[in-house]
Amino acid sequence: MKARQLLVLLCLAVLACEVKEVTSQARCSVPQWPSIPGIAEQNPVELASGKVLLVALMKGYCRYCWYQAQNLESLKAHMWNRGFRDIEMIIVNGGSILSRTTIGNYAHYTNLTIYQDTEDNTLYNLFGGDKDDFIFYNRCGQRAAFLPHPYSYLGRTYTERVLRALHRGRSRCVCNLDPAPQSRGRRSAEYWKIATSKSNN
Ligand SMILES: *[C@@H]1O[C@H](CO)[C@@H](O)[C@H](O)[C@H]1NC(C)=O
Repeated sequence: MKARQLLVLLCLAVLACEVKEVTSQARCSVPQWPSIPGIAEQNPVELASGKVLLVALMKGYCRYCWYQAQNLESLKAHMWNRGFRDIEMIIVNGGSILSRTTIGNYAHYTNLTIYQDTEDNTLYNLFGGDKDDFIFYNRCGQRAAFLPHPYSYLGRTYTERVLRALHRGRSRCVCNLDPAPQSRGRRSAEYWKIATSKSNN
């Protein structure tokens, strides 16, 4: 646990690696959205183009998930207020009958968009994670980071730190939609201008 925690911190510092057991998803790959019955037609990763996207894998019957969903939306608002405005978040609800029939629970806690998975767990597999994990895509829709449970617990700051880093274009993927790297002093001035001009869409 100690070693793993150190690894997560290291990864956060440079976003140089993904801490994960799931290896089916290559870093910087853009997920190919499946066109099959039961799955929303529009690719949320494409819809979020130009923004950093957080994908939260959850299950509708899970109380912990409801509070995470609520806190995700709070985090989004908090970051918006601090100038981190190119951030989108979605929830993927598990494909089991139990998850399906309890999808209504989220509505009491969040207005984030929820995507329903299939019984074959098409979306959980596509995003390559398990319940309670977060997957992050950069402005170009490239898989840029993976934060597994319990590091995704929003009582900790890992999630916000990953979002901040990706918002600043700090990832190992090449994305021309990211703000250009600049010296620290200059970045804050110019960077916020960019963020503000994109804000009211
Ligand atoms: C969702 O948005 C509506 C309209 O802004 C608001 O009234 C409602 O409280 C929100 N629900 C949650 C769970 O935040």
